[in-house]
Amino acid sequence: MPRLPILTRANADKHDLYERAVQSPEAEIDFVDATYRKLKGKKAALLREDFCGTAASACEWVRRRTTNRAIGLDLDAPTLANGMQRHVAKLTPEAQTRIELLKRNVLDPGAASVKALGGSPQIVLAMNFSYWLFKTREILRGYFETVRRSLAKDGVFFLDHYGGSDAYDEVKERRRIGGPRRGFTYVWDQASYNPITGEKTNHIHFEFRKGPPMMRAFTYHWRLWSLVEVQELLREAGFRNISVYWEGDDEKGGGNGIFRKTTKGEACRCYIAYISAEK
Ligand SMILES: C[S@@+](CC[C@H](N)C(=O)[O-])C[C@H]1O[C@@H](n2cnc3c(N)ncnc32)[C@H](O)[C@@H]1O
Repeated sequence: MPRLPILTRANADKHDLYERAVQSPEAEIDFVDATYRKLKGKKAALLREDFCGTAASACEWVRRRTTNRAIGLDLDAPTLANGMQRHVAKLTPEAQTRIELLKRNVLDPGAASVKALGGSPQIVLAMNFSYWLFKTREILRGYFETVRRSLAKDGVFFLDHYGGSDAYDEVKERRRIGGPRRGFTYVWDQASYNPITGEKTNHIHFEFRKGPPMMRAFTYHWRLWSLVEVQELLREAGFRNISVYWEGDDEKGGGNGIFRKTTKGEACRCYIAYISAEK
């Protein structure tokens, strides 16, 4: 078999690098599937992935069970096309009939999204902090209200959140990913934070063993919401039974990937948490 060329800026796909660096659709869907079952005493079938990007999680959802269906909503047509080519096209033909990606604003998912899914979603996902692009309480609450209206009666909204003292700093984190030929360095660049407005700009850069880096492959202009504010706004939007799931520690003091429901977090430098909110 011919060896793959060494990864460089010229031959890399930024979406593939992003997924390898920051996404774990299997672990995410494990959590969401098991938590829904715990909350509702049954398995969900209909899932909507908001801000779906390349729809890696929606694809993982339809792979899980033949009764599962998914839609992904995203505003960016080239990103959706990338997801169609790299993920949806690789599902079995049967699984492909159970997923659809729509170019839509999550603030207005529309009747088309319900039709495409074959009913109201039992699960809506807003992952990788994408909802932080909504920078005022009114707009974020409005988004949460839209999600709540869209959900089926037995519906649950799942979001993630990151925080800790590091989140307020202007710092770069570098992480080496992958093997010798296809490896790269992921750089999370917290470029600016304004404590008066809470606005922050983050970039993702990718560096390669050979050749120039891919600077600002992704840029996010966000508001750094606190976990308390997010829970308050979910409540104001009409959600009930809002729960936070905190990650356990591994032996080196990092996260162990196991999230447990709790009302007591830790004042650590850096955390990622999940939130569930029931209709
Ligand atoms: C941080 S990426 C999230 C990708 C993926 N869901 C994940 O978990 O990593 C944010 C995505 O949200 C999309 N987006 C931004 N504003 C949106 C909106 N109002 N409605 C739908 N998609 C939006 C962008 O095009 C981008 O693909």
